[in-house]
Amino acid sequence: MKELLLAIRQKAEAELAATCDEATLEEARVRYLGKKGELTAVLRGMGKLTPEERPAVGQLANEVRETIEGLIAERKAALQAVALEKKLKEEKIDVTAPGKKIAVGERHPLAKVEEELCTIFTSMGFDIVEGPEVEYDHYNFEKLNIPKDHPARDTQDTFYITENILLRSQTSPVQVRTMEVQKPPIRIISPGRVYRSDAVDATHSPVFHQLEGLVVDKGITMGDLKGMLEYFAKQLFGADTKLRLRPHHFPFTEPSAEVDVSCFVCGGKGCRVCKGEGWIEILGAGMVHPNVLRGCGIDPEVYSGFAFGLGIERIVMRKYNIDDMRLLYENDLRFLKQF
Ligand code: PHE
Repeated sequence: MKELLLAIRQKAEAELAATCDEATLEEARVRYLGKKGELTAVLRGMGKLTPEERPAVGQLANEVRETIEGLIAERKAALQAVALEKKLKEEKIDVTAPGKKIAVGERHPLAKVEEELCTIFTSMGFDIVEGPEVEYDHYNFEKLNIPKDHPARDTQDTFYITENILLRSQTSPVQVRTMEVQKPPIRIISPGRVYRSDAVDATHSPVFHQLEGLVVDKGITMGDLKGMLEYFAKQLFGADTKLRLRPHHFPFTEPSAEVDVSCFVCGGKGCRVCKGEGWIEILGAGMVHPNVLRGCGIDPEVYSGFAFGLGIERIVMRKYNIDDMRLLYENDLRFLKQF
């Protein structure tokens, strides 16, 4: 029996030393020390020994078990160290290597200017409201004092979805939608897309952007409109900017004006940007027509207000000296990256 134990030890020593991964090692452990293992089988046979033989064989058997257990632990530690070494080598990263560049987009010049406009107006206490692009004839025209057959409709021909539903031709319907649900004091702006069935050229697009403004309260005058617009123009184009109001006609404001700013390139002397005029038209404005106030349930004897509407494309083009509107919609990165 002793020989058998010694032979097992010898065999185990050789075999364990040759294992090269933890799974094989575990398999070997089961084969030697497990319930059905070789060593366990020998120990079971000890019953057949004489009482004199038993202590010596028992001691040797324990020694063999301890040796094998020790070898397994040692081997296990060695294999784990090798595995760790390998993993560290494989997962090594070079922190000095150049990183992968993430392509970050940029805001479109239209979006940038819209944001700038909103910032100027919100700093004056205006709230921003939105209105639908698919609009009722009722809001886009009727309630703005533009009945069916009014000639003003011809200049704002748009796309009809049904006879009474259309793509809004201006942001002015938001004035009406606001006054219907909000009682004065009202101080809002509303930027957004508008549509007209215009052919595309350097200064026209069937889709463009406007920003509407509306102030209604007791005692609002044309002076308030002019003062507010002057402050706005100086914020946008610089402190030297001057303002000029020319009489105009809009059905939903009375009196109405077209508003020019002094050319921010030449300061009024006349240049390529202002086409020699010294002035640049930026918006339409006026005092809210009593019919419009009344139609929204606001008494024009008690309240008055002003409204204005500006074309965002026009401001972008003037600001960045862009001479063709189509460039804003072509998504050519060489163009867009310049802003
Ligand atoms: N809605 C007008 C347009 O598109 C502009 C405007 C707005 C004029 C508000 C006066 C008051 O031409």
